[in-house]
Amino acid sequence: MISRNSPARCKIMVLPDLAALSERAAMEFARLALRSSKARRCFTVALAGGSTPMMLYSLLSDEKRYYRYVIPWKWIHFFWGDERCVPFNHPDSNYGMAFKTLLGRVPVPPRNIHPIPVANGDGKRTAQRYAQIMRRHFRAASGGIPKFDLILLGMGEDGHIASLFPGSEALRESRKLVCAVRGVKAPRRRITLTLPVLNNAANIIFLVSGKTKSKSLTDVFLRKNSSGRHPLPAGLVRAEHGKRLWLLDSASAT
Ligand code: 6PG
Repeated sequence: MISRNSPARCKIMVLPDLAALSERAAMEFARLALRSSKARRCFTVALAGGSTPMMLYSLLSDEKRYYRYVIPWKWIHFFWGDERCVPFNHPDSNYGMAFKTLLGRVPVPPRNIHPIPVANGDGKRTAQRYAQIMRRHFRAASGGIPKFDLILLGMGEDGHIASLFPGSEALRESRKLVCAVRGVKAPRRRITLTLPVLNNAANIIFLVSGKTKSKSLTDVFLRKNSSGRHPLPAGLVRAEHGKRLWLLDSASAT
């Protein structure tokens, strides 16, 4: 039995730069997708938004690289860890970014792509709807928590992950799978998976790049908190039943 915080459960790798970080993330993605598809003919992943994952997504779909030819796209289901409440063709859309860099360039069956349905405008209803979509895919009973094979997460300069920002009420959510929030980073209206879902994942890969992230990284790993509850959202992602891999570039890890 590996303990909750044993090294086997949480690995930190420092790579020279974003290109090396993305290459390592692509290798991990392919390894997990192949292993899961071989065992269960299914691999369910929640994609990260923002800019850091773009190079990873482009690598996975690059016709001049082998990833797109070895990854079993037909068995993979794509969800999102969070989404901005903007149209899919808006430059800030996480779905739009993933479609341009990855999903529109590889043979994933359209029925395997599960975007957060932000078009209907009402945040609360969108969050409920996405929770239903996830439950249906995972065949999770009403109280059950979906178990993603992999969740990709970036981290903001303030230590936020997905759209769970420091001090947000959504960080205290223990029942809902998905919440509508008002973030501090524009676009402010967002939909996000909650910590119960993130912490139930089999694998979490954090992708953190750039010097502006190093202060929060120090806090995540070194700051002890008296209340027993880490003040930064990234510090609350423990993946009790899974493994965490932090992929950092040297600028963020200084
Ligand atoms: C989002 C992301 C968010 C992102 C961090 C880091 O929708 O904005 O989910 O959590 O991962 O803000 O963003 P960068 O990768 O752009 O630094």
